[in-house]
Amino acid sequence: MKREDNAVTVNLYFEDTSKTITVESGRRFMEICDEYDSPVFFGCRAASCATCLVEITAGLENLTPITPDEEVLLSILAEGNPKARLACQCVVNGSIAVKVLAPS
Ligand code: FES
Repeated sequence: MKREDNAVTVNLYFEDTSKTITVESGRRFMEICDEYDSPVFFGCRAASCATCLVEITAGLENLTPITPDEEVLLSILAEGNPKARLACQCVVNGSIAVKVLAPS
């Protein structure tokens, strides 16, 4: 896909690998992780399995809001952690820093 000259780029910093990926804003987190080497893995891709459970250590406001299905799973697996998200449910609109929470 050709990048527009006026495209806004954002940085995704992965704490687990100390690696930064720079991409266009407005892309699905899951698609970015599929395209680049990232420590975030996916299973169901539908807010059911928690394989993609992450903590957003910076830039939480730069992701799209929590979906209803995501909220249900987060309330079980990450109760009390307001920075937890399911990477399969997020669109990245600004720079973020990420740490994997899913059990390996
Ligand atoms: S991949 Fe299963 S919840 Fe995100």
